[in-house]
Amino acid sequence: MKILVLNGPNLSRLDLREKNHYGDLTYQQLEEFIKAKAQEIKLEVEIKQSESESEIIEWLHKAADAKQPVIINPAAFTHYSYAIRDAVSMLKAPCIEVHLSNPLSREEFRHTSVVSGVVNGTIAGFGAESYALALKAMQNLI
Ligand code: DQA
Repeated sequence: MKILVLNGPNLSRLDLREKNHYGDLTYQQLEEFIKAKAQEIKLEVEIKQSESESEIIEWLHKAADAKQPVIINPAAFTHYSYAIRDAVSMLKAPCIEVHLSNPLSREEFRHTSVVSGVVNGTIAGFGAESYALALKAMQNLI
């Protein structure tokens, strides 16, 4: 089964965001990096990105129905979307939260993740490598 990798709002514009936090890959390069890392360890991935909370929730509902494993970077929704948290908590297969930056070393509003309590684990602060680490962790979980 393919692992669903979900990326939240503004990650599509990595080229315009703070390079000290997010690194210098464009979003397209990040997707290519994730696919290459998955291929290296013989996993299949389906990568989706949305600016919209409702679209992400609909994808999570489908993943729950399909018992699909999920790696999610909810981006800013991490910090306040109880709706995404509730959708993640309905998943049947493992779910890993990832972040490019380390939110705990940044502004105080980023110190809370409403999602962390309903995932198997969180990997943050390693740039694109956070996704590679999450794929490895997912391989051990599934
Ligand atoms: C992020 C961290 C969030 O605080 C921020 O809103 C993002 C990206 C990360 O990957 O480091 O958009 O999730």
